[in-house]
Amino acid sequence: MRTWIRSLRPHDVPAAPVAARRVTDLREAERFIRLYHAEHPSAGGMPARLRDIARDVARHGTYTHTYEELVFGARVAWRNSNRCIGRLYWRSLKVRDRRQVSTAEGVALECVAHLREATGGGRIRPIVTVLPPDTPGLRAPRILNDQLVRYAGYRTADGGVVGDPRNLALTRTAEALGWRGRGGRFDVLPLIIQPARGEPLLSHVPGDAVLEVPLEHPCYAWFAELGLRWHAVPAISDMCLEIGGVCYPCAPFNGWYMGTEIGARNLADADRYDQLEVVADRLGLDTSTERSLWRDHALVELNVAVLHSFERAGVTVSDHHTESRRFLTHLSKEERAGRVCPADWSWIVPPLSGGVTPVFHRYYDTSVLTPAFVHHR
Ligand code: ARG
Repeated sequence: MRTWIRSLRPHDVPAAPVAARRVTDLREAERFIRLYHAEHPSAGGMPARLRDIARDVARHGTYTHTYEELVFGARVAWRNSNRCIGRLYWRSLKVRDRRQVSTAEGVALECVAHLREATGGGRIRPIVTVLPPDTPGLRAPRILNDQLVRYAGYRTADGGVVGDPRNLALTRTAEALGWRGRGGRFDVLPLIIQPARGEPLLSHVPGDAVLEVPLEHPCYAWFAELGLRWHAVPAISDMCLEIGGVCYPCAPFNGWYMGTEIGARNLADADRYDQLEVVADRLGLDTSTERSLWRDHALVELNVAVLHSFERAGVTVSDHHTESRRFLTHLSKEERAGRVCPADWSWIVPPLSGGVTPVFHRYYDTSVLTPAFVHHR
């Protein structure tokens, strides 16, 4: 069952930013095509391809990637993601080529199909769905949600927040478009799609497309009573995929979770679910002094609960020790292939036990490469 709720754009819905109808930079296109052929020596036909692209850019202001170029470009965009610790498997990224989908409704349907396929009943698959690029003549649709699955955040009368404070603005936008949440702590927000022209589309995400894991602890029965949960698939939906001078503004992609993203950030950060004190109290820790390290203790138990619960539910999740080692494997593989592997230390080092993981004890090349996933504005 899929429901569309369309409504006129009220005042508090942000108007679409002015169209980014820029002409494709031919030099970027050429650089990408050379990279593609350097890594696919048997493909052949590079001179003709370069000629065709130069002609298309001169005539139409842009060009169209072949399926093979698109797949390669998306995978290399992952490879070039300086903030991502999980890049070892960049070659396995599955690319759903949906460049022919043009309507907001079509985009919403593809997002839901993406979630279903990526979830795989718990065996999470890294996938990107590539929707139409911006062209000089037409701005492509955008997804306003920063991830396909987001929990609503509601401001309460006493100034507090129920749900995820990070999504207060997105929740208000959905409400302004006619959505009504149930006021719970983990209400999945609808997708909000800004089409090429016209008002945004609000699209409900069917419950069976969103796998969630209720959290429990292997040793403390009371942990389940906290009523905490998280969704299985982190699918970023507000970044542009930039390949060879072409911008795909709507290209949701996902990997699987590393436990600390949930246990040491989403549920622990003071400006997110802020659960450390709750957990510490139930553990009976001394919260009257920092020197009891109650925060650290609670943080570890929260992270134990995340990893344990995902594993019991049969949902792919990795721990930060394993993922750190994999990242160093990736780094040496890249170096052996004659490439630099740029990385952002402040994002790569896990938010829990940083110095216990090997990624802490070194520096990284910080260059910024394309193809890439980028935030435009
Ligand atoms: N940190 C974000 C979150 O907690 C997700 C970012 C992407 N993570 C990933 N494992 N691919 O929702």
